[in-house]
Amino acid sequence: MNDVTLREQQLVALLDTRDWLTNAAQTCAFIAQQFDALNWVGFYRQRPVNMLVLGPFQGLPACNPIPFEQGVCGKAARTRQTQRVDDVHAVPDHIVCDAASRSELVVPVIVDDALWGVLDIDSPNPARFSTDDQHAIERLCRVFVEASDFEAVAA
Ligand code: SME
Repeated sequence: MNDVTLREQQLVALLDTRDWLTNAAQTCAFIAQQFDALNWVGFYRQRPVNMLVLGPFQGLPACNPIPFEQGVCGKAARTRQTQRVDDVHAVPDHIVCDAASRSELVVPVIVDDALWGVLDIDSPNPARFSTDDQHAIERLCRVFVEASDFEAVAA
């Protein structure tokens, strides 16, 4: 069994409720423990439309809220495409929450074809995230979505 599959099975076992809030908190803690050289792991939820509000996270207090027009998180939300940034200093509208962050991975979280939010992961190391890391984290996001029940986005 490879590491990706093992991690997915461990997260499935950890998420033993349908409550999205509990599962989001557990997913952050699990990723923070499983991947090295991370300084922030957390969810932002779309609430209300076109705005991201801070959800469960591990790390320093963070920027809140983030409009869809801004930052790496906003771009992931707008485009619904994972953003893998090797050097956050090269992104003009990168939002600095922790000056220690050097690279970033933001995965859109899609529920029933709607953008529920994003999972944001920061590292103090430049180019910390490989495409393998990206795919592993995207799969863990799917585990979180499939394990959870969600409220509708408030207008
Ligand atoms: N750097 C992000 C903001 C969120 S913090 O990193 C936790 C961005 O540019 O969207």
